[in-house]
Amino acid sequence: MKTRITALFGIQHPILAGGLMWLSDARYVAGIVNAGGMGFITPRSFDTLDAFRDQLKLCRELTQGKPFGVNLTLSSRNANNEMVPRHIEIALEEGVRHFETVAAQPEPLFKAIHDGGGIVVHKASRIRYAQKAEALGADAVCLVGMEAGGHPGMNELPTFVMGAYAVERIKIPLVIGSGRQIVAALALGADGVVMGTRFLTCHEVWAHENYKNHLIGCDEDASTTAMRSLKDTWRVLANDNARTVQAMEGAGARSYPEFGDRIKGTTTRDLCYRGGDVQQGMVSMGPSIGFATKRVSIAETMATLMLDAAVHLNRLKTLETAP
Ligand SMILES: Cc1cc2nc3c(=O)[nH]c(=O)nc-3n(C[C@H](O)[C@H](O)[C@H](O)COP(=O)(O)O)c2cc1C
Repeated sequence: MKTRITALFGIQHPILAGGLMWLSDARYVAGIVNAGGMGFITPRSFDTLDAFRDQLKLCRELTQGKPFGVNLTLSSRNANNEMVPRHIEIALEEGVRHFETVAAQPEPLFKAIHDGGGIVVHKASRIRYAQKAEALGADAVCLVGMEAGGHPGMNELPTFVMGAYAVERIKIPLVIGSGRQIVAALALGADGVVMGTRFLTCHEVWAHENYKNHLIGCDEDASTTAMRSLKDTWRVLANDNARTVQAMEGAGARSYPEFGDRIKGTTTRDLCYRGGDVQQGMVSMGPSIGFATKRVSIAETMATLMLDAAVHLNRLKTLETAP
């Protein structure tokens, strides 16, 4: 399949695997890239800048020169945002030219990336934010619907509705957060899909086996959202911790400190991803986890997705010629 996104990123399949905090390291991203998609390492996942640089070097080795990307997320809680310019410098020094950005004010990021000869796909949760990114010079935009895992913003529209509006309003290449429905996304007029949740159970994800096995048992109702009352909606695994956070919101908690360690990323990393306790932490995940029914590699997942896409594309063609 050839779209403006495959051309822009020089990839085989129109699939971007969005950055995954704590999880999209060199091994994961190389798995995505070697399977024909584009993946993004999350610099914030590493304790030091040197550790981040080491991951870039390792990824370059594992991908044998194929391009891979870096995710730049400006945190709405402002945690360590001052490090982001250094992340860009280091990525450029290590030969990375593909970036995914998430930021309310992305101009400085776009400038630094473009000055370094890079390209950027900006992830947004509303069409008007995507239009703003387009006006500011993004090379492509990625729109995530309210069903996306992680932080889908305050938008309440699902991808299927928002994507259909977006293709009329966005001129640059457009990617929509659409889990498995690649052909549906292309049929809407988008140039590709962005996925995260669907890959979480793959062998290349370093997290604890308990976590991955638990996710295999999840269906489309296994995710929930919290923190909406703080205007920071978070789509996560519906576990004990998420339910407690929801109850605290219900009881009136409205500031981050009131939730303490319950909403800290390091809690999720230490207790769930490392420790294997799936009831702990805010564990980013969306409803498309129900499609992950087997423990397989990224390459096998990608092959399944593209086979599925081919089947549905053929079905559309059959409809065209039906009497
Ligand atoms: C575990 C996890 C961590 C994520 N961390 C980030 C992140 O740090 N930065 C970011 O831009 N998006 C992050 N996302 C969002 C993904 O990049 C992607 O946009 C989203 O997963 C797509 O929707 P899906 O989950 O329905 O596939 C995360 C998603 C998950 C599931």
